Amino acid sequence: MIEFNQATQQFHFFSQNDQFTLGILPSGHLAFYYFGEKLGNVDLSYVVTEIQRASYLADTDCIKDFKLEQLPLVYPAFGNPDLRTPAFEVELADGSRLSDLRYQKHQISTKKEIKGLPTTLHESAQSLQLVLYDCVAQMEVTLIISIFPEHDVFTQHVRIENQGITEVQIERCMSVNLDFLSDNYDLLTLGGAWGRETHLNRRKVTQGFQGVDSKRGASGHGQNPFIGLLAPDCQENHGELYGLNLVYSGNFLASAEVDMHQNTRLQIGINPFAFSWALAPGAYFETPEVVMVHTCGGLNELSLRYHRFYQECLLPKKFAKKERPILMNNWEATYFDFDKEKILALATTGKELGMELFVLDDGWFGQRNNDDSSLGDWTPNEEKLGGSLAELIQAICHLGLDFGLWIEPEMVSPKSHLFQAHPDWIIRVAQREPQQVRHQYVLDLSRVEVQDYLIEVLTKLLTENQISYVKWDMNRNITDAGSRGLSPNHQQELGHRYIVGLYRILATITERFSELLLETCAGGGGRFDPGMLAYSAQIWTSDDTDAIERLAIQEGTSLLYPQATMSCHVSAVPNHQVGRITSLKTRGIVAQQGNFGYELDLLALSEAEKIEISRQISEYKAYRRTMQLGRLVRLAVYDATNEHGWQQEDEDYLILNHVFVLAKANTVPKRLKAINLENNARYQLVDSQRFFTGAELMSIGLSIPKPTTDFASTRWILRKLEE
Ligand code: DGJ
Repeated sequence: MIEFNQATQQFHFFSQNDQFTLGILPSGHLAFYYFGEKLGNVDLSYVVTEIQRASYLADTDCIKDFKLEQLPLVYPAFGNPDLRTPAFEVELADGSRLSDLRYQKHQISTKKEIKGLPTTLHESAQSLQLVLYDCVAQMEVTLIISIFPEHDVFTQHVRIENQGITEVQIERCMSVNLDFLSDNYDLLTLGGAWGRETHLNRRKVTQGFQGVDSKRGASGHGQNPFIGLLAPDCQENHGELYGLNLVYSGNFLASAEVDMHQNTRLQIGINPFAFSWALAPGAYFETPEVVMVHTCGGLNELSLRYHRFYQECLLPKKFAKKERPILMNNWEATYFDFDKEKILALATTGKELGMELFVLDDGWFGQRNNDDSSLGDWTPNEEKLGGSLAELIQAICHLGLDFGLWIEPEMVSPKSHLFQAHPDWIIRVAQREPQQVRHQYVLDLSRVEVQDYLIEVLTKLLTENQISYVKWDMNRNITDAGSRGLSPNHQQELGHRYIVGLYRILATITERFSELLLETCAGGGGRFDPGMLAYSAQIWTSDDTDAIERLAIQEGTSLLYPQATMSCHVSAVPNHQVGRITSLKTRGIVAQQGNFGYELDLLALSEAEKIEISRQISEYKAYRRTMQLGRLVRLAVYDATNEHGWQQEDEDYLILNHVFVLAKANTVPKRLKAINLENNARYQLVDSQRFFTGAELMSIGLSIPKPTTDFASTRWILRKLEE
């Protein structure tokens, strides 16, 4: 676990397979010695003392050749005298921006919750609180570095306390800084845009500053709060890599900086852009935490570690390991154009086909028949619903379905009673006309009265109605960042205060309604991050429901996030986003990579389509445990530009899936090989008399039928036999 070696002044964190080591230098600065496979409690000071580089850098404390800028540091503060990008920067009352953080004391304890922020927790987790002190600023900076030994996961966050007598402005406080003594790495990030989120983006690191960030007020469609550093030979199933994933849903920065000595400095944390925090005497500030994984087992091993960790240490306990219902959502079936008759007809057919939960999407409230009004007026439109919401729910539950409801609490339409009553509740800068996106404004969740109002509205809605699931949407980013609730020198706190306010609402509602299954959404995957996963056990992965587009989106999302968290629906063809026509079979196989559902007009289905949907649903129900809660890994394919393969596996079943994008004539015979099985384990292909050993499945694999059309797919389900 955590050991402090008094003689070497080094802290060792030992997990099952890995080790993280840092130490106190004679000057009191902290050096980062090692993050890698387990070595043991050995003296690693040579990592620092053997650095030999001719340089043009300042000596520290006037000690000849003691140059902080060429050392791997743990939490570098600006300018004293490391001139690389700091992890920490403050502005003091005298206008100076230097700080000098030196070791003061430390303590080891069990891991505790971070107040007001989502936190990863486990009974076996241990934390080191390393207190650094700046005597001039009278500021205490505590690094809380934790280890989850069984999960091979390390986390870190930072607590900053002003012990002086004047206010201090925090300008930058990254959650972690890792200095690597090499630039021979690739960088991996997840990015894209609305409708094509979380695509894997791998490139070589080069001298200078690179990375991803969000200034949107949410983690965003264009980037995920993740950064990976990979050895150049790292592939799916072998090779060394590091992953940093921030448990945060707001503006973030994830960067790699290669300095002039070819060191790579990796950081992740709250985006310093448009952020500063006025810390009054006696006050403290805590950063969100970062989840750090190292492995030599390639990208698949990284994914397996993150998946297991999030399932066991982050997701809401009640749902983390619970099978999720197969839902039917009316959005792509009706958009805003529905009435009671249509909803009940959809629900009736959904039930007949085997679906379990009916979700009523946007358009059930106020006067909302398109996207230009009524957000904020969460009063059911009884004319449209043909009676009260409670009556509609009763009718749906009477069919034997659970009921779920869409809501977008963070927003308000200019055309709404709420806006008429509280025009000052929106995020905006006085004197400037606020911008609208999708005809809506963002409510200022940094203000407690707005948070309280939303808690009250949601509590009423959920108390008065039998709602077992909520889809919590968020369809625009923050522009016009300004809050009436904050004085001028606190305005730059808005982004973080908004997210903390959102977390407070989510925590209160999920505590009050502990049986409620919450799915979050931000125009698809615009806020698919570990912060949201602490409250919502599933997230709508993307508004792009095309099966082929989803291959890359789900591949990237599942790099970090467990399959049960990725909501994936079968939709109509031609697909509403890209116009592609794919078979119902392929749409089903792709959507069953995650948390499965449908959103298409069930009333327009042919008999043959209904038979196929019933078959898909029965199959999913039979193997749901494996498909939602089992281990998901990506499989090697012959042509990665045209094929995707993945494996879902647990103690009972092995499910192999393969999708061709385009059909090609006369190619080599292709086989799909499983991974991570025991050589001697025995498997039976269900509904057949074919038997295989784990070794056969991994070494020879199964024959992939030649595609006779574009977008062809194959699935094999194998039962694991008793030893
Ligand atoms: C965006 C979501 O991603 C969609 O699924 C749908 O709920 C719409 N908003 C409704 O406005």
